[in-house]
Amino acid sequence: MIIDIVSIFPEYLEPLSLSLVGKAQETGKLTVRVHDLRDWSAAPHHRVDDTPYGGGPGMVMDAPTWGRALDEIAQSCDSKPLLVIPTPSGKVFDQPTARSWVGNQSIVIACARYEGIDSRVSQHYQTRSDWAGVQEVSIGNYVLAGGEAAALVMVETVARLIPGVLGNPESAPDDTFSRADGLLEGSVYTKPPTWRDLEVPPVLLSGYHQAIDQWRAASAEEKTRNLRPDLLP
Ligand code: 6GU
Repeated sequence: MIIDIVSIFPEYLEPLSLSLVGKAQETGKLTVRVHDLRDWSAAPHHRVDDTPYGGGPGMVMDAPTWGRALDEIAQSCDSKPLLVIPTPSGKVFDQPTARSWVGNQSIVIACARYEGIDSRVSQHYQTRSDWAGVQEVSIGNYVLAGGEAAALVMVETVARLIPGVLGNPESAPDDTFSRADGLLEGSVYTKPPTWRDLEVPPVLLSGYHQAIDQWRAASAEEKTRNLRPDLLP
């Protein structure tokens, strides 16, 4: 899988060379290519924005610059790329969204700053038969200064779903939001058995797997009821 990320702050994406995503790249299961949008600016001082039609505060990223960038990047893709535009006004990104992206050999993430990208960019690439569609996605109900932090979140979420990226392939289906029952993952413990007067629930030390499974199911339900009652059936 190849993910191209376009940003005016390419350094913001440097953490993608670390940890699980970095390892996925080293093992060839994922390639992340980061591009500086200003490389496609035709304006003096590499400007990529302009004042909004209709007036109002802030600046809007211009369509011609994005169009040149996205067309050139698409030509370097082996299959039709999916265009992802992080924006607080998008559909909320979740685990099913991430799963649906894993089949794509190419994803291009267009990171906006300022008041966003001229709306015709999203409109145009939706109609292009050499692209696999456009998805405008938000990572939650709050406002960031730009799409880069959201892109980091999306790439890490997708990377751990690529076959062979996780060390233990059994741990992914038990994750919160990947569980068949839709509940949060329950409480977890490791050594030592007592820490600052707090004991590990004895059943987990019993070796009795049926009882352990029952305890974990109850823990998942309790945690979900306390923290995310909206997820209960
Ligand atoms: Cl994807 N972008 C920005 N700028 N703010 C956000 C967001 C994205 N998701 C939540 N807030």
